[in-house]
Amino acid sequence: MAVLVFGGMGHVGSWIAHDLAAEAEEVVIFDLGARGLAGRGLDYLEPHQDRLTFEDVDVLDTHTLFERMRAYEGRIDAVVFGVAVIAGPTFRLRPFRNVQVNTIGMLNVLEVCRILGVPKFVNLSSGAIYGTAPGGQTEETPAIASDLYGATKVANETLAAQYGATYDIDVRQARLYFVYGPGKLPSTMHVLYQAMFGPLQGMRNVAAPAGGDQALDWTHVRDTAQGVMRLLRAPAEVARGQAFNISSGVLVPHREIVAAVTDIVGSDSGMTLGDGNFFERGAPLDVTKARTSLGFSPRFSDIRDGLNDYHGWLKSVAKAG
Ligand SMILES: NC(=O)c1ccc[n+]([C@@H]2O[C@H](COP(=O)([O-])OP(=O)(O)OC[C@H]3O[C@@H](n4cnc5c(N)ncnc54)[C@H](O)[C@@H]3O)[C@@H](O)[C@H]2O)c1
Repeated sequence: MAVLVFGGMGHVGSWIAHDLAAEAEEVVIFDLGARGLAGRGLDYLEPHQDRLTFEDVDVLDTHTLFERMRAYEGRIDAVVFGVAVIAGPTFRLRPFRNVQVNTIGMLNVLEVCRILGVPKFVNLSSGAIYGTAPGGQTEETPAIASDLYGATKVANETLAAQYGATYDIDVRQARLYFVYGPGKLPSTMHVLYQAMFGPLQGMRNVAAPAGGDQALDWTHVRDTAQGVMRLLRAPAEVARGQAFNISSGVLVPHREIVAAVTDIVGSDSGMTLGDGNFFERGAPLDVTKARTSLGFSPRFSDIRDGLNDYHGWLKSVAKAG
């Protein structure tokens, strides 16, 4: 039996693939260009290669998607869906394409799950579904998106929940938030991420136009993956048909992150954050439900520990590269 991880070459998906494989699960990674680990910088997956299979599939290519998923018919324990164009300033530049990848892409996978009788589907959703609602958002807070990306996540949750209810699929939704850490090079991210985390990779003199007055509950990717693993593993009576907020739940002011990173690298890297908010939304999630029902317990609730861990990984990648 196997777990199919869509987006398994990505930041969150690769750590879910890691955690599954480390527990001796067979993992099939479905992702654009997924042909193996060579040149992908996902060193943490290398020790687990014998449990990983790679499927180079575009979720919008319905024919290939169906053919490749059908190859595992009868052997699929669960599907984790983590393909997305993630939130950020560039999402709006290609709206039609990005909405299609996020929402039609998920629907395509769900439809194949229905046809093949896949029993369980975990949708990687986002705190973006709460839009600009004030903080302490619980799973009962109404989902009212305040941007296009958030709209894809609201649509996905609705579609996934109804597919689950109509076709007897055990659908679970993980609402993630502001992930950082090993697996993602700051240089490949948006300008605020670069200005905060870039010095850990040796970047210098990045000026983010805004974000200096914002505080978000940044979550270390290993904690994000731990939360998704707990959701995947939870008994049906706890998690079937349910949504769970999965984030650190701890608000960290951005200027504190810059200061902590400066301490870690030992010098000022010339990073500046403009005043105001970078993200229109971002009030912290209430993670009580995940803590009490799933036993979710973020390991890196002190961001300094998370930043040190991230620094260690970025140094090891630089050394290897
Ligand atoms: N990173 C965050 O801060 C964050 C926050 C909240 C929610 N999420 C959600 O978590 C999930 C994973 O996010 P991530 O940070 O790992 O993103 P990521 O960008 O690192 O990974 C997404 C993966 O999707 C793949 N992909 C994109 N288009 C595809 C297509 N057409 N067909 C097949 N694969 C395709 C990419 O190749 C990539 O590997 C997403 O659903 C995202 O919306 C992320």
